[in-house]
Amino acid sequence: MNVSVVGSGYVGLVTAACFAEKGHKITCVDIDPQKIDKINNKIPPIYEEGLAEILESVVPHNLNATDDLLEAINSSQATFICVGTPCAADGQIDLTHIKKVSEQIGKILADKKNYHVVVVKSTVIPGTTQDHVIPLLESASGKTAGKDFGVVMNPEFLREGKAIIDFKKPDRVVIGSIDDESADLVEKLYYHFKAPVLRVDLKTAEMIKYTANSLLATKVSFINEVGNVCKKIGVNVYDVAQGIGLDHRISPHFLSAGPGFGGSCFPKDVSALIYKAGEVGVQPILLNAVLEVNRNQPEKVLELIEKQHEIKDSKIAVLGLAFKAGTDDVRQSPSIPIIEGLLDLGAVIQAHDFEALDATKKIFKDKITYHSEIKDALAGAELALILTEWPQYKKMDFTPMKEKKIFDTRYIINQDLLPEDVEYEGLCW
Ligand code: UGA
Repeated sequence: MNVSVVGSGYVGLVTAACFAEKGHKITCVDIDPQKIDKINNKIPPIYEEGLAEILESVVPHNLNATDDLLEAINSSQATFICVGTPCAADGQIDLTHIKKVSEQIGKILADKKNYHVVVVKSTVIPGTTQDHVIPLLESASGKTAGKDFGVVMNPEFLREGKAIIDFKKPDRVVIGSIDDESADLVEKLYYHFKAPVLRVDLKTAEMIKYTANSLLATKVSFINEVGNVCKKIGVNVYDVAQGIGLDHRISPHFLSAGPGFGGSCFPKDVSALIYKAGEVGVQPILLNAVLEVNRNQPEKVLELIEKQHEIKDSKIAVLGLAFKAGTDDVRQSPSIPIIEGLLDLGAVIQAHDFEALDATKKIFKDKITYHSEIKDALAGAELALILTEWPQYKKMDFTPMKEKKIFDTRYIINQDLLPEDVEYEGLCW
């Protein structure tokens, strides 16, 4: 099938690459000439495990990038909208990009003879496709949705860093639609992925996405809160998580306590659902608490470190800046408020990350030092603070440290293998 994908961020490009690998002919459309150039030269413009290999094999015969939306739509049967939906300060999602693209697509559909399906993949608050995307497509095209062209809402459940694996082995494919013809076409596109398909209406598809992210975020805040209690009473929350995770009704996933969730999705999506709840007169007590626990978690890290360590003028190696391992993304990363807090208390920060140094430099500039080698971040440090669960930290050599104190917010180090002179302390255990 011929498909165009608007927006070459991690969702758009992963969608494009995985469909292309299954033999579909994909055109990526983006406004950024650098991104287009990179994709056409088989270079991923973002870091995503496995993406480079797929681009290598599918560009140019099954995948191309362009800024020509007209040509891309005219030569395809379906267009996926994968542009960003950032969050405004009040939690409401910003639909500027979605609206602009919907209007542009509508104008092109005005003259297109063949049936075309517009698929919203960007995460949008329930009601958006019906109340914003469809009216814009209809007014710009002069045609009727569900009759002259199709509209589908097909949410993504891709984790950053594991997006290729998640796309290739989905737990389910959710297809929200207003007509069977377009839902059939999208279901056919996913045929090779052999996942259960759930067909619903547009609003339900949008709500499924927000509910999934909000529940996962709730699990993280829940275990963090329990972990804070465990710390006070001398219990290891990771043993507790294992104990409850074996119950199939609970599952072991998303029960790793830590410094709080971050990234471009959980904080934004929970906030957007809270905003929507407020709009329709529901007070979202639990969702507000999920964010509150999360906002407080970096503070817990600072409190515990302050209790056992003289922070002023002390050299602290901060190990891990990305909001989780496997990504270069520091958006809403707990490392940011933690570093800010440590700087306010007078610490000297020597930061390390495997992928996120460049992104962090944009935030802290010359207030901290940046190291691509763990040993350089540890050199002369009096405390090593592990914030991201990069597996490489499991086998660190602490020799370069002045004082061998480790504070591990992710509980990734095997204590049995630690040398005797290393002091090891954690957040929730
Ligand atoms: C999340 C969802 O997992 C995806 O299904 C969804 O498609 C995506 O958002 C999105 O909306 O686009 P992602 O933000 O990439 O994916 O990250 P996750 O792997 O879900 O982790 C989110 C945060 O929770 C991270 O900060 C992570 O460190 C934290 N976390 C996760 C924990 O602290 N403990 C856990 O047990 C699991």
